[in-house]
Amino acid sequence: MKHAIVFYFSHTGQTKRMVEEFAQGLSETFTVEMIPVEPSVAFDFPWKINDFFRRFPDTYGPSLCPLTQIPEGVWRGHYDLVVLGFPIWFLSSAWPIHSLFEMSEFQKLVNGRPVVGLVTCRNLWLTGVDRANARLSKMGVQSIRNFVLRDPSPAWASVVTTPRWMFTGKRGPFLFFPKAGIPDTSFATVRDFGRRWGASNSLSRGDCNVDAMLVPNVTEYLMEIVGSKFFRLSALMIERVTKRGSILRDVALLLFRVNLVLLICALFVLGRVAEFVAKSYFRRLIDVRVESSLCIQSQI
Ligand SMILES: Cc1cc2nc3c(=O)[nH]c(=O)nc-3n(C[C@H](O)[C@H](O)[C@H](O)COP(=O)(O)O)c2cc1C
Repeated sequence: MKHAIVFYFSHTGQTKRMVEEFAQGLSETFTVEMIPVEPSVAFDFPWKINDFFRRFPDTYGPSLCPLTQIPEGVWRGHYDLVVLGFPIWFLSSAWPIHSLFEMSEFQKLVNGRPVVGLVTCRNLWLTGVDRANARLSKMGVQSIRNFVLRDPSPAWASVVTTPRWMFTGKRGPFLFFPKAGIPDTSFATVRDFGRRWGASNSLSRGDCNVDAMLVPNVTEYLMEIVGSKFFRLSALMIERVTKRGSILRDVALLLFRVNLVLLICALFVLGRVAEFVAKSYFRRLIDVRVESSLCIQSQI
C-alpha cells in the first residue's frame, strides 16, 4: 500500500473535518498518517477582536508562530503523497502553516513529491492558494492539486456571519442571514475526491475541481487582487513602524481596520461597475487564474 502524510492546521474545525473526509476516501488505497500542526499556545475561540487583528501582520511578516513539536520519526518516513490542510487567513495561508513552510525538514520531505492542498475559507481563497503554491513550488514539489471549500452564502452575508461566528462563537442563522461556514453537503464531496485521488494517484486536469461555486465573481476577484496588495503593503508598514506587542501596533491595526471596512465598501461598488462594463473580460481572466491556482499542471 502507498503511504500518505497529512499535515493540517485547523482552529474552528472546518479544515480538520475536510482533511478527515479526504483521509477516509484516500484510506481505501493509502495508509494515512495525520499530523496536526498546532501552535504551542492555542488561539482563543471566540477570538478577542484585538487578538484576531494582531494575527494580520504575523501572517505576512517575518515572525513565526511557535509550534508544538512534530514527532522526529515523521521526517524519516517515505511518503508517496503529502497532503496539506489549511484555512485562509487574511488572503494567505494561516500563520502556523508559514512556520511549517519554514522548517527545513518539511522542505526536504515535500521535495519531489505530489502535494494535495485542502483549503477552507469564507469566500476569498485565490491569492492565499497562489501564495502557498509559490512557496511549495520553491521547495521543488512534483505537482500540486488544490481542493477548496467555501461558505456558499453571498459575500454581503458571509462578511457579517463569519466575523459574528469568530467573535461571538454564534454560528446559526439570524434575521435574514444564513448559517455561517461550510455546509455538510460540501464536506461530503471531499471523501469522493480522496477516493478518486487514491484510485488514480493523480487526477488529470479534466478532474480539476473547478466547481462553479469556487469561481469568484468580479467583486470577489477585485477583492482578492486589490485586497492582497493592500494587505501586503499595510503589513509591511505595520512591521516597519511598530513593534510586536506595542500599543502603537494596536493603534496602527485600528487604522488598518477602518481602512479595510472602507476598502470593502468601495470594492462592492467598483465590482458592480466592473461587472456591468467588462464582464466577459473579467470572466476570461478569472477562469484562467482559477484553473492555474487549483492545478499546477506543468510539473505533473
Ligand atoms: C484570522 C482569520 C482570518 C481570516 N481571513 C480570511 C480571508 O482572508 N478570506 C476568507 O475567505 N476567509 C478568511 N477567514 C475565514 C477562515 O478561512 C474560515 O473560517 C476557515 O474555514 C477556518 O478554518 P478552520 O475552521 O479549520 O480553522 C479568516 C479566519 C480567521 C480566523
